Amino acid sequence: MIAGNWKMFKTRDEALQFIYAVNMEVPKKEFVDTVVCAQAPVLRDLVKRQGENLRIGAQNMHEEVEGAFTGEVSAAMLENIGVDYVIIGHSERREYYNETDERVNLKLHQAFRYGLTPILCVGEALETREANETNAFVKKQVEIALNGLGPRQVKELVIAYEPIWAIGTGRTATNEQANETISVIREVLKSLYDQETAENTRILYGGSVKPENIDGLMAEPHIDGALVGGASLDVKSFLRIADAAYTK
Ligand code: PGA
Repeated sequence: MIAGNWKMFKTRDEALQFIYAVNMEVPKKEFVDTVVCAQAPVLRDLVKRQGENLRIGAQNMHEEVEGAFTGEVSAAMLENIGVDYVIIGHSERREYYNETDERVNLKLHQAFRYGLTPILCVGEALETREANETNAFVKKQVEIALNGLGPRQVKELVIAYEPIWAIGTGRTATNEQANETISVIREVLKSLYDQETAENTRILYGGSVKPENIDGLMAEPHIDGALVGGASLDVKSFLRIADAAYTK
């Protein structure tokens, strides 16, 4: 899977231009799930125009069905307009909007209730990696996030391992670092569920993924794809990254 995370970029006109340019060019969905996670105001327009091989995702949702939560969007609203995926627990949401592991867990349950496929983000800060605490930190994030979910749900969801120090910094984790931490996540899935769940849950890498480094990342055995920020804004580089997953 290759998922673009547009963050707070692109007006409606820019978003539509992008969709028209990539719709016919992305790999067939039998081979690669290609997803664009866009900002809320353009989601409906993109869903209406998504080609056969492209799916649209949101970048966040609230954990409640509805209520007095000014500025928020619910899973029901996303489902109702035909969105398929939703990013949950991105490190920017955790850092700037007080998203705790416990809220991430509630959001995952709510996403499943409405048939949305969550892309759960986990990943450590630089201090954590330098203190050699990455594995324990990521393990805890995954355990709390998945609390109460069954193996069938976990196999459906997508996990994105995104070291915070690699996001938007141009500093990618090495292929080996990414692969190793993702293998730790698979171990956690094995201990919480079983071997089959550990093998079949899709786990992506994210953090400064670009056309120049995608091939090396995709060559690693545990990496099933990428969550791409900056490089997903440009048609050519997004397509090049999606093609790299095709050849895996
Ligand atoms: P980046 O962002 O590719 O721009 O580093 C990745 C992400 O935040 O998902």
